[in-house]
Amino acid sequence: MPKSFVRKGLQGYQPYVPGEQPPDGEDWVKLNTNESPLPPSPRVIEAIKAAAGESLRLYPSPTAAPARRAIAKHFGLAESQVSVGNGADDLIEMCFRAFAGPGDRVAYPTPTYPLLVSLCLLHDAVPSPNPSGEMFTWSTELMDDPAPLKFLVNPNSPTGTWHAGPSVERVLMRSEGVVVLDEAYVDFAAESQLPLLAKHENLLIVRTMSKSYALAGMRIGFALGSPALIAALDAVKDSYNVDRLAIVAASAAIEDIEHHRKIVEHVISERVWLEDQLAELGFERSPSEANFVLARRPGVDQTPTARALAARDILVRHFAVPGLHDALRVTVGTDEEIDAFLEALAAS
Ligand SMILES: Cc1ncc(COP(=O)(O)O)c(C=O)c1O
Repeated sequence: MPKSFVRKGLQGYQPYVPGEQPPDGEDWVKLNTNESPLPPSPRVIEAIKAAAGESLRLYPSPTAAPARRAIAKHFGLAESQVSVGNGADDLIEMCFRAFAGPGDRVAYPTPTYPLLVSLCLLHDAVPSPNPSGEMFTWSTELMDDPAPLKFLVNPNSPTGTWHAGPSVERVLMRSEGVVVLDEAYVDFAAESQLPLLAKHENLLIVRTMSKSYALAGMRIGFALGSPALIAALDAVKDSYNVDRLAIVAASAAIEDIEHHRKIVEHVISERVWLEDQLAELGFERSPSEANFVLARRPGVDQTPTARALAARDILVRHFAVPGLHDALRVTVGTDEEIDAFLEALAAS
């Protein structure tokens, strides 16, 4: 497309740099997007195989009804309190459509999930970044920001930082608008803030099956909130935003509690091991409650390290932003991936 047709400022929306990294990335050691090191539940694979038949000629349930039912049952909520999306990113975008019009402020702490600033640009919303304090604590400016839409990511990405319930509740009580709590990584942390839904009508929780359910390839996310907030999301979603295979996969995944627990326990124990190995290589410990670690060498720019790793086909995330240039975000990958990464890191 000729350059003049492209709206300014939308660069950076894609999760890869065109030309620098293949989007399919199958041959790389991929420790940059926090996928699961273990496979999905065998029950999920069976359900997908069973659904991959003639019924694919028909559109899926527009509300992904079977998945909503299964998710609502699992969390002890009403079906009217659940919406399902094509990944959590789909639901996050729906939040912009539903709660932040052109010119509206959208508040978030920094550093956090980079998609938010891209979506502000796409939706002509006004980004309201609120720098976090020491140890990435949320600022009072963030709490009191009068934005109609506010995002919190807990545990945060890319830092892995955990914010306990009282901090989340303080933001909820001091916010005038909708507060979206992105709990993409919460299964690897202490506890979900789900019980706060009963007390705070402005809370919307967003979850994903890409991490602790090992289903990044299926694109399944879900939102939990009051019937009013869920209805607002449903009003702006794409007509059939979750396909037939994803619907059966979501239902099977949420029902296989044992497999989910296995993934979570494995990742947590490997995370501790990875943190120890990084400490031995001279990286500072930065406590993570997610399925990745933030490896820091205080004051030492990690751009050359990220490049050296990429030259050996090992992808990790480096964020060239203030406060994070001296850190690498590394997914708790498979044993082979972590071994390859540590070997390359030691040699870099
Ligand atoms: C904080 C956060 N939210 C949402 C997502 C997106 O999840 P999904 O794969 O379900 O779109 C990610 C993906 O890495 C993430 O880090």
